[in-house]
Amino acid sequence: MTNFLNNSEKLAHSIFKVQFVCLGNICRSPAAQGIMARVVRDAGLEERIIVDSSGTAGYHIGKHPDRRMIAAAARRGYDLQSHAKQFDRSFLRDRNLIIAMDRDNFREIQRLQAGVAPHVKLFSEYLGEEWPNDVPDPYYGGEDGFEYVLDMLGAGCPKILEQIQIELGLPVEPA
Ligand code: 4NP
Repeated sequence: MTNFLNNSEKLAHSIFKVQFVCLGNICRSPAAQGIMARVVRDAGLEERIIVDSSGTAGYHIGKHPDRRMIAAAARRGYDLQSHAKQFDRSFLRDRNLIIAMDRDNFREIQRLQAGVAPHVKLFSEYLGEEWPNDVPDPYYGGEDGFEYVLDMLGAGCPKILEQIQIELGLPVEPA
């Protein structure tokens, strides 16, 4: 397995693909996709970085994000437009960076290939100790859970962009 993250020379002028992965692809990863797309656009990098999402399970294929997540995200100015799809083994080759929302998703992705894929990360790796290891699944909980997910994603996405900018040899704006 090629470690795309360390392949900086090849990445210098190419498109970088990042994919967020949760279980159903209707709550956490579509929100991560929407927030990250905004962060990328605000940095003027939408031509260089493609943001996508998927779920390890296929329960909700084709559906829009959960209406509770659409509403919570809209209150913060994010318009979530994705359709759910299932994570496919081929994404391990095609994406430069794959970010799992929780440790179950992480293990599920790793299980799809032989050996360790170093470009598969856990979202919380980009955050400090004050955040939990997993972006908690809000599906069976109340509204607070959706707000918490958005807080966590909002804190992590700028850090992810910084790492990608370093990989691409682009200047990183001071925070
Ligand atoms: P997500 O949330 O993984 O953040 O999209 C869930 C969505 C649906 C289910 C579980 C989690 N479900 O069991 O249907």
